[in-house]
Amino acid sequence: MVEKESSNSGQAYQFAHKHIFGIRQLSSTDIEHIITTAQSFKEISNRAIKKVPTLRGKTVVNLFMEPSTRTRLSFEIAAKRMSADTFNIAPSSSSATKGESLVDTAKNIEAMNPDAIVVRHSSSGAPQLLAKHIDCSIINAGDGIHEHPSQGLLDMMTIIDHKPSIEGLKIAIIGDIAHSRVAGSDILGFTKMGARVCLAGPATFLPYGVSSLGAEIATTVEDAIEDADVVMALRIQKERQNDPLIPSLREYAIQYGINRSRLKKAKPDVLVMHPGPINRGVEMNPDVADGSWSVILDQVTNGVAVRMALLYLTLGGAKSGQEQTES
Ligand code: CP
Repeated sequence: MVEKESSNSGQAYQFAHKHIFGIRQLSSTDIEHIITTAQSFKEISNRAIKKVPTLRGKTVVNLFMEPSTRTRLSFEIAAKRMSADTFNIAPSSSSATKGESLVDTAKNIEAMNPDAIVVRHSSSGAPQLLAKHIDCSIINAGDGIHEHPSQGLLDMMTIIDHKPSIEGLKIAIIGDIAHSRVAGSDILGFTKMGARVCLAGPATFLPYGVSSLGAEIATTVEDAIEDADVVMALRIQKERQNDPLIPSLREYAIQYGINRSRLKKAKPDVLVMHPGPINRGVEMNPDVADGSWSVILDQVTNGVAVRMALLYLTLGGAKSGQEQTES
């Protein structure tokens, strides 16, 4: 059984996080609460009028200093579906190109009174740094090789959509673990929720000390996938590697790529996941990415609901989630 941690033991549960820096700060109760809240918001996206007044009057700034398709767009959609005003800052059009520091950028944004800054940055710890200097909520949308908590939460929500519980599942994560903030959040989240996490990849992609997070390192990709309930492939994070850490992409695809033959080793009802963007034919073959076992686009759909939940919980929307799902 997963040992339930409580943020405020002995009292009625209350979500008590102004900032979302990572899965590490969240208890299993927090994780369950965020996912339950996201599940209650999910149907809003299927309505003819996809909007509720929950965050009317709130201002959310998306400060993305690295490229993003899914995370930036889904935070913006999430905020807009809850009637918040959203504004986006991209690195190429910001004054960071003129030498302004991240803290100065954030202080200037704060001078315009936003309620939350959603930040993506190449430096691990950038969200915590901002929180030391400014007062509004900070939500980490991916910091360096550290964490990508909303991705970890949407991955857990997607698994729960298809399996009775995360507890007791074998989850294989294959690829560039060392440079992946998704891996950082997923390993922490999956193990907190009671899964057995098995990692595989070239030695140069397996970070020192990862077993201290509770994950096992398999000798081969086949061992990791054997009887797995979930197989997640990760992109090679070339942007975080100074020198090539593998001989060639072709060789990597042969040794570690997820193909049909490897997938046969997993349980028949295996879920195939990938945080995106996918390099088809490298970490995963197209027929696997598009096959019946793939829940990759479900992950993206759940991303909107999870980000609605995170904005709602950190910005203190109306007290009852039920209230918000009734138009
Ligand atoms: N999964 C993810 O973070 O994708 P983006 O880089 O497109 O946001």
